[in-house]
Amino acid sequence: MTKIILDLDTGIDDTLALTYALASPELDVIGVTGTYGNVLIETGTRNDLAILELFGHSDVPVFTGEPHASTKDSFEVLDISAFIHGKNGIGEAEIPDPKGSVQEQSAVDFLIDSVNTYGDDLVIVATGPMTNLAAAIAKDPSFAEKARIVIMGGALTVPGNVSPWAEANINQDPDAANALFRSGANVTMIGLDVTLQTLLTVKETAKWRELGTVGGDFLAEATDYYIKAYETTAPHLGGCGLHDPLAVAVAVDPSLVTCLDINMKVDCEGETRGRTIGDEEKLNDPKKSMKVAVGVDVERFLHELMERITRLAADTPARES
Ligand code: RIB
Ligand code: CA
Repeated sequence: MTKIILDLDTGIDDTLALTYALASPELDVIGVTGTYGNVLIETGTRNDLAILELFGHSDVPVFTGEPHASTKDSFEVLDISAFIHGKNGIGEAEIPDPKGSVQEQSAVDFLIDSVNTYGDDLVIVATGPMTNLAAAIAKDPSFAEKARIVIMGGALTVPGNVSPWAEANINQDPDAANALFRSGANVTMIGLDVTLQTLLTVKETAKWRELGTVGGDFLAEATDYYIKAYETTAPHLGGCGLHDPLAVAVAVDPSLVTCLDINMKVDCEGETRGRTIGDEEKLNDPKKSMKVAVGVDVERFLHELMERITRLAADTPARES
């Protein structure tokens, strides 16, 4: 079993990432670290705790991370984030308030301690802004050397989704993402290049609703909200992008994607701020620290997602009639 920490801005597709991880026998989820992004950090960690409880995993600890970008002193949810994920981050679906609360240790310290303890046996999957990871690198210079990281973020061969240049997670804190990319850390980037090829429709969410369980109902309601938002923002796709769960799926099985070995950077100045692109200064460096996914086995991933998450949702209490 591979130990995994999920760094989430929960978020509907973050919810699917979390449930994919909980449903994967290959993974031991040792913690969730919260970040801001789709929602305020307090909303995101509330969702993490509530979702973990709903799916019977209240033993997984949740840690609070940095509440705003590394170059800012506050954070407000963007209108587009609230439109796509709902004000509560989970498509206005209502699930019971969690009984547990966040840990006292900070997310950054938990990330550092875990990497020092488990080394290569641990993978960190980050599906929000890269602020917590950059803070860990700044605090512990050996973090970048030791950590194995998969991120959902960026776009190499396609345009961004918040501007022609920038993808949402990178856009929240380009400086943090640049610090991560240029740190030499072992990072696999699961960007829009592949996540917008993996789509879910109401045909699949109907299967979750048919289970007649509280977990199935919750996932169907939240994901239908997300699918509806995509009908407005990206009608040409015909479904919602499975960004964050694809990153977890790749942590389980890297053969789901084909990757380009490359050294990357993030533009931090000018109109292209937030663009993820090859680092020209390291073009001739034979050592490539990053892998960028450019191809994905869509059918196999969708099969794994439905098989795993449906099994997890089936195992929650029956809905009250
Ligand atoms: O661009 C998609 C990403 O932005 C996903 O991680 C989504 O949850 C939002 O954070
Ligand atoms: Ca996310």
